[in-house]
Amino acid sequence: MSAFRLAVLASGTGTNLQAILDLLHGRDGVEVVAVGSNKRDAQALERASSAGVETGVFCGADYADRAQRDAAMADWLGERNVDLIVLAGYMELLSPEFVRRFRNRIVNVHPALLPSFPGLDAVGQALAHGARVTGVTVHLVDEGVDSGPILLQRAIKVPYTRDRAELEEEIHRVEHELLPEAIRLIAAGAVHIDPKNPRVVHVDVETRE
Ligand code: GAR
Repeated sequence: MSAFRLAVLASGTGTNLQAILDLLHGRDGVEVVAVGSNKRDAQALERASSAGVETGVFCGADYADRAQRDAAMADWLGERNVDLIVLAGYMELLSPEFVRRFRNRIVNVHPALLPSFPGLDAVGQALAHGARVTGVTVHLVDEGVDSGPILLQRAIKVPYTRDRAELEEEIHRVEHELLPEAIRLIAAGAVHIDPKNPRVVHVDVETRE
């Protein structure tokens, strides 16, 4: 069986990338073949290099506009024959052309229970709103902001103290389980979009167990 080829895009620390490298890379036919970033100094790039994974940097400043940057990034990923692109703290909106080229082959992890609190600083939004429950969502990426079909979600109680650091730590802990789980399910062919309603995603329970 040929490997399931994964690319990860990340802008920051890369703890989600690290979870993917630790739990999935080189196991059950899954290979992380490329890690891309819009930030030259992203710690995620160091994590990729330490794991022997090829890296690419696509800074907005090096291109005329986002469409051109994303076209270069799409070609780089296309040349590497990636099966799935994972946004793990990738803090830029992808161009519609990029999304169309990899339709239903891009997933994102978001630190809230979508459709609540999309966009930037979802944790801050949940705290400012006085939410009692927030969580983590893994979803397919469409042309909108955190608006694609939902694959997996897990709820997290906001701590009584409403302490941001405590909540963020719990969100990260959950993300590091949920994102690899979603990727594993996709790689196993256990995820199907409902032909009657493309917003709804079915997961084969048999393959999950
Ligand atoms: C994660 O919490 C992820 O959900 C969030 O950025 C963090 C990246 O952490 N992504 C977004 O907010 C995207 N809208 P990491 O660099 O340690 O993986």
